[in-house]
Amino acid sequence: MKSLNVLGVSSSMREGSFGTRTVKIVLDTAQKYEAKTRLLELRKIGMPLFNPDSDSSIQSDMKLQKVTNDVNWADAYILVSPDYHGSISGAMKNFLDYYWEEFAGKTFGYICTSHEKGLTVMDQMRTAVRQCYGWSLPYGISVNGQEDFNKVGEVTNSLLDKRLRMLARDLVVYGKLIRGQFLQDLSSDVIDTFVTRYR
Ligand SMILES: Cc1cc2nc3c(=O)[nH]c(=O)nc-3n(C[C@H](O)[C@H](O)[C@H](O)COP(=O)(O)O)c2cc1C
Repeated sequence: MKSLNVLGVSSSMREGSFGTRTVKIVLDTAQKYEAKTRLLELRKIGMPLFNPDSDSSIQSDMKLQKVTNDVNWADAYILVSPDYHGSISGAMKNFLDYYWEEFAGKTFGYICTSHEKGLTVMDQMRTAVRQCYGWSLPYGISVNGQEDFNKVGEVTNSLLDKRLRMLARDLVVYGKLIRGQFLQDLSSDVIDTFVTRYR
């Protein structure tokens, strides 16, 4: 596989979201590793509340079509959620509810904006992704907006800066390996692999 398609999904409804700001930095850095990147700002899309009874509307709703195109295009994802009561945002949960098989065999990185460590938030995203046979990087990144950024939106925390660069690099390198093997297994006749169910 030549280059990796990375989709950032930011799920804060705030215009000045620190999470959205952060994922833009990671996506820019991923491009230096020859990834192609897109950003899905759920704030701008306004996905309707997922309803299993109207599943077919994914095809007819233009907004959902755009999201689905981006999801299918992606080989790897960065999911970003604010910490709301130790949980993911409703927008992130709603986004995740729409998709299942689309996440299989793809690698995910996580960012949480929180005044704390955001571990429970990232664990919730991990759980949803694992349930859909996606793969997660072993660490996530917690951002404290007020402390880690200056007034013009630059990262002032050098440790965070380092971790963001690490996330970009690892997602591209490990994401390629996982996706490459998944696609290879998909088009092979090997039976002792979880990939058989996606053929
Ligand atoms: C409804 C609500 C609940 C929140 N709960 C928590 C929380 O439990 N722990 C925490 O550290 N921050 C909490 N926060 C603060 C946000 O996580 C924090 O402001 C974050 O930076 C917002 O991300 P954003 O800048 O990407 O919008 C909460 C904020 C809101 C609006």
